[in-house]
Amino acid sequence: DKGTYPFYMLKEIDEQPNVMRKLSQVYLNDAGNPVINEDLLATLKQADRLYIVAAGTSYHAGLVGAKLFESLANVPTEVHVSSEFAYNQPLLSAHPFFIFLTQSGETADSREVLLNVNEQKFPSLTITNVPNSTLSREATYTLLLHAGPEIAVASTKAYTAQIALEAILAKAIGMVDGQAAAKDFDVKQQLALVANGMQALVDEKDTFEALAKDALLHTPNAFYIGRGLDYDVSLETALKLKEISYVQAEGFASGELKHGTIALIEKDTPVIGIITQKNTAGLTRSNLQEVAARGAKTITIVTDDLAKPEDTIVLPAVDERMTALLSVVPGQLLAYYTSLNKGLDVDKPRNLAKSVTVE
Ligand code: M6R
Repeated sequence: DKGTYPFYMLKEIDEQPNVMRKLSQVYLNDAGNPVINEDLLATLKQADRLYIVAAGTSYHAGLVGAKLFESLANVPTEVHVSSEFAYNQPLLSAHPFFIFLTQSGETADSREVLLNVNEQKFPSLTITNVPNSTLSREATYTLLLHAGPEIAVASTKAYTAQIALEAILAKAIGMVDGQAAAKDFDVKQQLALVANGMQALVDEKDTFEALAKDALLHTPNAFYIGRGLDYDVSLETALKLKEISYVQAEGFASGELKHGTIALIEKDTPVIGIITQKNTAGLTRSNLQEVAARGAKTITIVTDDLAKPEDTIVLPAVDERMTALLSVVPGQLLAYYTSLNKGLDVDKPRNLAKSVTVE
């Protein structure tokens, strides 16, 4: 039931602070330590490499997760698009462990990989929002996202739930052998900060609607740019925009623009820069200046500690590894309001289904 909301997508965007709190309740004890199936952790600990396999938005959540597993649990992690991995399996490490990220648990492309993985007798975990879904039943282990039903075709709260649960799991793996990065990472406090930060963003809907009308409503194309985690989020926010507003949007590693794509910049082409990582903030700012000099209409989404007076959207500060949970929200709302103001059916974009059960 969407209650007073015009579309499920907006309701689901608004539910994200509570989803963060729910995951904290379900998976963290009072001391803030993860409570995760011991058998799963022992199996994960034997792995020399994690392979995250997913499609679409879940793939984008995997890109963020890989950085969490590497930095908090010190385990090499690769992320793959399901439909590619299924028919072009790369050389694997000696002891691989597979993580399937899938909101629905029914994505055919991901299931095809799981069938191959099971044939090769490798251990696997499905992280899904749907209990008893196909990928949940067929994997060795399951962790649930507890995000509540996601009805809008465009995924929002499942993406942030996946990242939050990956952060918890990464801490849990690192804690098994007492790694300092995992011990020092207060995921409970971070999720509380993230929940409050998300609330502050969703309370600013008018700002995002005005921005969407000004920059995105009449443009044929748009770019999201960033580096590292910000690049991962730029891929997701571009997907949101194209999926429901039909603006041709691309996420780019900001350093790559000058290697070709900058040729597309014309007067008023929207370029949205995401800046949340200290080590690359200055570089992305220069890239934005380069496109602005060629006429682009630039918008910045920047964390508080890196913000300058001229920035467009300022995000509350959280641990640098958790910024994706906040930096994605403006992109979700910009896509929503672009679609809404075009008079489109936000929840049911053309040519798309909520779960893709064919390859
Ligand atoms: O249910 P899944 O997470 O496996 O679905 C994967 C993609 O089909 C899905 O994320 C799709 O990209 C969304 N519509 C994006 O908003």
